[in-house]
Amino acid sequence: MKRITVLLGACAALLTLAGCSAQPVATAPSLDEIFATRRSIRAYDADKKISEAEIRELLTATQNAPSWANQQPSKYYVALGQEKFDAVLDLVGGNKPRVANASALVVCTFEKGKSGFFRGTPANDAGDFWGAYDNGLSNAYFILKAREMGFDTLIMGMREADGLRTLFAIPENEAVMAVIALGYRAEEPNMPVHRPLDEIVKFY
Ligand SMILES: Cc1cc2nc3c(=O)[nH]c(=O)nc-3n(C[C@H](O)[C@H](O)[C@H](O)COP(=O)(O)O)c2cc1C
Repeated sequence: MKRITVLLGACAALLTLAGCSAQPVATAPSLDEIFATRRSIRAYDADKKISEAEIRELLTATQNAPSWANQQPSKYYVALGQEKFDAVLDLVGGNKPRVANASALVVCTFEKGKSGFFRGTPANDAGDFWGAYDNGLSNAYFILKAREMGFDTLIMGMREADGLRTLFAIPENEAVMAVIALGYRAEEPNMPVHRPLDEIVKFY
């Protein structure tokens, strides 16, 4: 018995020396936890900011999103500096007070004529809708990865596309889609009501 106690003591000492302790280790949230806590956030904490390095990590993860024939048509214009941030803020209409304290405003576009096209010809009836489809998929990765990293987001469809195009010199072959606010939540959001499953799905 005495020998076991000495052995356990030695192991504990070794673990302490190696930097291990009995402190709980922070684990990444599960996908279900991300789904449960990811919400559209309309009030951000002005005192907590996200760095360019963190946004690069987030966008690198976002690149794992699938796209038509791996065309990767989505592009991102990140307003992180104060001047550009304020300029984008003026182009999101009634969303302005909701996202004024976010860390970054990310303008999302997709290059037209890529997804859904084969040598310049639409592959089927959906045409450039496939580019918008891919952009939405990419943005879904963005907002979920952001949540995994402890960040919060608001996708904004209410935005002035022409003003954003001028501000970032976005070429005409790109369609301006959403602006995504990225930051830290300042308040807990309500859970929206979801439609009954049988209203949106039919099994055969
Ligand atoms: C394409 C799109 C555009 C949206 N535009 C806005 C917007 O301009 N302003 C806003 O406050 N919320 C906007 N939202 C957020 C939705 O209102 C929100 O996703 C929905 O109410 C469900 O809530 P949840 O995201 O918290 O689950 C938008 C969401 C999407 C997907």
